[in-house]
Amino acid sequence: MSRMNVNKRFPSVADLESRALPRLPKFVREYLTNGLGTGTGVRRNREALNDVELMPRYLVEADQPDMRCTLFGREYDAPFGVAPVGLSGLIWPNAESILAEAARAHNIPYTLSTVSNLTLEETRRLTGEMGWFQLYTPKDEEDRHDILRRCEEAGYDTLFVTVDVPYQTRREHDIRNGLSVPPQFDLKTLWQMATHPHWALRMLKTGVPQFANLIPYHGKITSRSKRKQIEAQVQFIKDRIGLHITREVFGDIREHWKGKLLVKGVLDPQEAVAYLDHGADGIVVSNHGGRQLDAAPGAATLLPHVRKAVGPDATVLVDSGVRSGLDIARMLALGADFVMMGRPFMYGVAALDRLGGDHVMNILKAELQSTMGQLGCRSVEELPSHLVNGIE
Ligand SMILES: Cc1cc2nc3c(=O)[nH]c(=O)nc-3n(C[C@H](O)[C@H](O)[C@H](O)COP(=O)(O)O)c2cc1C
Repeated sequence: MSRMNVNKRFPSVADLESRALPRLPKFVREYLTNGLGTGTGVRRNREALNDVELMPRYLVEADQPDMRCTLFGREYDAPFGVAPVGLSGLIWPNAESILAEAARAHNIPYTLSTVSNLTLEETRRLTGEMGWFQLYTPKDEEDRHDILRRCEEAGYDTLFVTVDVPYQTRREHDIRNGLSVPPQFDLKTLWQMATHPHWALRMLKTGVPQFANLIPYHGKITSRSKRKQIEAQVQFIKDRIGLHITREVFGDIREHWKGKLLVKGVLDPQEAVAYLDHGADGIVVSNHGGRQLDAAPGAATLLPHVRKAVGPDATVLVDSGVRSGLDIARMLALGADFVMMGRPFMYGVAALDRLGGDHVMNILKAELQSTMGQLGCRSVEELPSHLVNGIE
């Protein structure tokens, strides 16, 4: 498809989502899009954003809205980035390299999940300075310190520690679909794959992806079968990746990580303050895109309360439910310094393969610029002054 056609046919993330979803087998589609329970958490994220009103003003000269943004001393071309999405390479083959390269070209960050299908070293080579890493920590201190060492040696300077998966997650659709890694090739999944040739043919080419970062830790396995190796990695995740980040584990990570440390998945304003007191450099307000607790409040609802609690100088990022440049403006107006997204980038890649990452980033930049122009807003720092319904 030519670039002109892409621009015309898919002017929004919603258009990409509509094209992407039918291209994915059901077990992949539901893993990517759904929340859990009744899906209330996902809806709440959306509704909280829809409720945010922004005041346009027309007496200001804002013909050249400036989207650039500085975080921890580094300038980004826009105030948004790619959130970590585990198993990206299973959702769409090569998704990680596509998004890592697009992020570098757009001068915005790409965050690699611990449970990714490309190694942190390979990814850092693709992202350059635009690479961030998200940690699900091994329980074993030696393994944990080794991952942190590898991150540092690879050149990462920003680490997300995700705290909002303190217990085994129970997603009904994944149970129903028998989602497993490596995928079980029973009649049901084989049929789903056969009826989704875009996905299946690419997956045949790349092969079922491994949990590439964990290969050094799952112990020696004698079999050369790839399936056996993936099974060993999955067993490692089940047995030896710690879910709950206790104060001790957090303290240990802080002690062994010299770079910037951000805590991802915070909703309670008082906890945000506590993490900063314990040495975090920033907070990512998030309900994990409504994927962990159906009753969790929307990230946009809690964001202004977190900002008020931590004060104007603390670094606050946010994700969950953001689907457009307008949503990015809303989150910045509510007090975020920077906005992350998970699913939108995956929709782009599943819809357009190699062109997808670049296209989503172009859409979001164009929408944010247009929103700022409509508001009469010259820079991203001015966005909070356009918020209509702020908290007291
Ligand atoms: C399929 C999927 C996998 C995810 N895997 C991870 C992960 O490995 N680590 C993590 O910290 N967050 C993970 N997240 C959460 C995202 O980083 C982010 O918080 C969420 O997607 C934001 O919501 P959005 O998708 O509405 O933008 C995942 C999200 C999705 C949709």
